[in-house]
Amino acid sequence: MRNFRGGSKSKKETPGTVSGLKAGLHKRIVGQPAALEAIVPHIKIHQAGLSPEGRPAGVFLLLGPTGTGKTKTVEALAEVLHGSERNLLRIDCAEFQMDHEVAKLIGAPPGYLGHRETHPLLTQAKLNSVVSERSPLSIVLFDEIEKAAPSLTRLLLGVLDKATLRLGDNTAVNFERSLIFLTSNLGARGMARELSPGFGFDAMAGCRPALSSKLESVAMRAVRKHFSPEFVNRLDTVVTYQPLDEKSLSEILDLQLAGLQQHIHSRRGCETFYLHVAASGRKFLLNAGTSPEYGARELKRAIQRHLITPLAELIELGIEPGATVIADAPKNSTRLHFRVPAIRLTALDAA
Ligand SMILES: Nc1ncnc2c1ncn2[C@@H]1O[C@H](COP(=O)(O)OP(=O)(O)O)[C@@H](O)[C@H]1O
Ligand SMILES: [Mg+2]
Repeated sequence: MRNFRGGSKSKKETPGTVSGLKAGLHKRIVGQPAALEAIVPHIKIHQAGLSPEGRPAGVFLLLGPTGTGKTKTVEALAEVLHGSERNLLRIDCAEFQMDHEVAKLIGAPPGYLGHRETHPLLTQAKLNSVVSERSPLSIVLFDEIEKAAPSLTRLLLGVLDKATLRLGDNTAVNFERSLIFLTSNLGARGMARELSPGFGFDAMAGCRPALSSKLESVAMRAVRKHFSPEFVNRLDTVVTYQPLDEKSLSEILDLQLAGLQQHIHSRRGCETFYLHVAASGRKFLLNAGTSPEYGARELKRAIQRHLITPLAELIELGIEPGATVIADAPKNSTRLHFRVPAIRLTALDAA
């Protein structure tokens, strides 16, 4: 696969512009156009200086089944907006299931036990550290929000409403230049039921808009049950991610294989080689790494286990620079098979 598009920027991609943003996101996120359409306008409004005062630049709730790209969208936005997926402040809500853990986000007030030992996680300095020269917007991700203690939702209510957070030491953190993302798979079980065979999905499969709006209403019902009306009212946009069909999953595999090829090139330099995963090998990886339940979540692990680990062994045995390693999977095989056809010398080399 010599024509790789990979995770890096193409020459035409100009991240500062709205069309550059859209193109950058579309290149990285497969099969979720509604999500990208919802996010980009908020950045445009901010760039035009028209964001409302005293509110975050955007508050988004991303819903939908596991492994459909919710977290990946936020990482991709950080990469497109700031040049690196790491330029985001991520709060993994599973780590804040108890109220005393939520208190760690803001730190204890002076005089309280442990004041000196607590370093709040949501400080202005932390927000400032994830912006870049390209954009002043900080991206804040509260991942899997349904797992957090209710006190985190209460704390967020103030942030979403006034764009400020008071820390334990009474300093304020300003979120006016922040895009706040909340992800959740609330309602995912209900959605899975809608999608299961015999539940109308077969009949609706050819009618994507009807299915989307059905899933949306299932998700919103779960959100309304879990969060207070004030909380729901403060969200700018709620997007329901769609289950990924075979074509999208295959495109995601393409992206990941292209990323791997690029990684091989950058790590091995002059010693690089090419990787070609044949159709049977791709089918094998898709079977091993994707499922209706987990979407594309396991794909990376399948690539690691079935492709990267054996490749490392092959490298140890020696792969000629410039060679092409072909990976395929004969019928009923439980692993990928690798071969390295001899390099054909060109007339010039032979001379
Ligand atoms: N729509 C998508 N486009 C591109 N990659 C995706 C998509 N959905 C899932 N993936 C891949 O699967 C992995 C897991 O997806 P993730 O965004 O974490 O799922 P979730 O919706 O559960 O947050 C990502 O890191 C990415 O590699
Ligand atoms: Mg996620």
